[in-house]
Amino acid sequence: MTIHTKMARLVAVLALGLFALFAQPQAAQAQDIVNPTAQSVTEDALLGALSGDAQVQGRVTIPDDLSSGLIKPGNRNWADTHGGPVRTTTLIAVVGMLAVLVAFYLIRGKIRIDSGPSSERILRFTSMERFAHWLMAVSFIVLAITGLNLVFGRAVILPLFGEGVFGTLSAWGKVAHNYMGFAFMLGLLLSFLYWVVHNIPDKVDLKWLSQGGGLFVKGVHPPAKKFNAGQKGIFWSVTIGGAALSFTGVMLLFPEMAGGEAGWQLYQVIHGIVAAVLTAIVIAHIYIGSVGMEGAYDAMGSGEVDLNWAKEHHSLWVDEVQGKQSQDGGEAGSRPATQPAE
Ligand code: HEM
Repeated sequence: MTIHTKMARLVAVLALGLFALFAQPQAAQAQDIVNPTAQSVTEDALLGALSGDAQVQGRVTIPDDLSSGLIKPGNRNWADTHGGPVRTTTLIAVVGMLAVLVAFYLIRGKIRIDSGPSSERILRFTSMERFAHWLMAVSFIVLAITGLNLVFGRAVILPLFGEGVFGTLSAWGKVAHNYMGFAFMLGLLLSFLYWVVHNIPDKVDLKWLSQGGGLFVKGVHPPAKKFNAGQKGIFWSVTIGGAALSFTGVMLLFPEMAGGEAGWQLYQVIHGIVAAVLTAIVIAHIYIGSVGMEGAYDAMGSGEVDLNWAKEHHSLWVDEVQGKQSQDGGEAGSRPATQPAE
């Protein structure tokens, strides 16, 4: 037995002892329930319950009544059976998307600016829009990584890096996951407010879709407004998926609002499956917004993109911005939308 295992056993015994000291007696509801506060209960019985099928149930005075259950064999079985769909969906969605992107890169390569970089740049996103995006993006990435650790950490991190690393990572990961959820919700709300008006589907999207967005054939550039149909797909996936994750996440954080154990367990499965699908979609978005397409990252980096990039990918939006600029041209103090590159 390693020193860590001995320590873990000692901590478990102490925790059970403390629980027995402070919890109030409650009548056992079934024969296989171990009441840690009953006079006759020994430490042996409590430790036996850790590996057996008995339930250990005390009493709490906080609103979350579920927390009075110290050991629930039903929950342990539930995690084994219902955790399956979450693990399978995550594996298929995330690994599948990575495989598709590798294949796409090998076949199509990096999407270049066909007409080459120009000497002018055009403002695409203001600093507030970029703040909203990065607040949502950074928090989502932390949530995704810490969430993946919850689903696969025991199978991957534990055998590879050992108990110490897995334990520390999971403990901090849980704290990060619980708090980052609120940053994500704020970023999601701001992004929604800034961009919803540009994401209403229209008939330009049909033409864009019919040409595969020009993603598969070099030199093909279907017209698009500020956001093309593919980006509208990302926007609505993030908005609807993000809202579902936020709602179910809050229910998991405050179980007393979730309508009992059955509700809580249902929210857990929905949370895991939506997170898996959205993570896969976001991985594709990150690829195309960074290494996959020349000039794309600048939109969220400096906020200004190359004019030729903009004409190739968002021609109708460029016409609109430049049309406005020429109308405002005579007005004192107006800032030109396009500027010479430095
Ligand atoms: C390192 C990670 C990321 C990079 C490099 C990145 C990059 C970008 C870029 C360059 C754009 C602007 C595209 C354009 O000019 O048309 C954009 C837009 C957007 N990003 Fe990200 N992004 C990242 C992570 C995320 C994450 C995690 C989310 C959501 C959870 C997200 C959601 C969006 C949305 C909704 C838009 C607007 C619609 C769209 O362009 O698809 N991004 N991102």
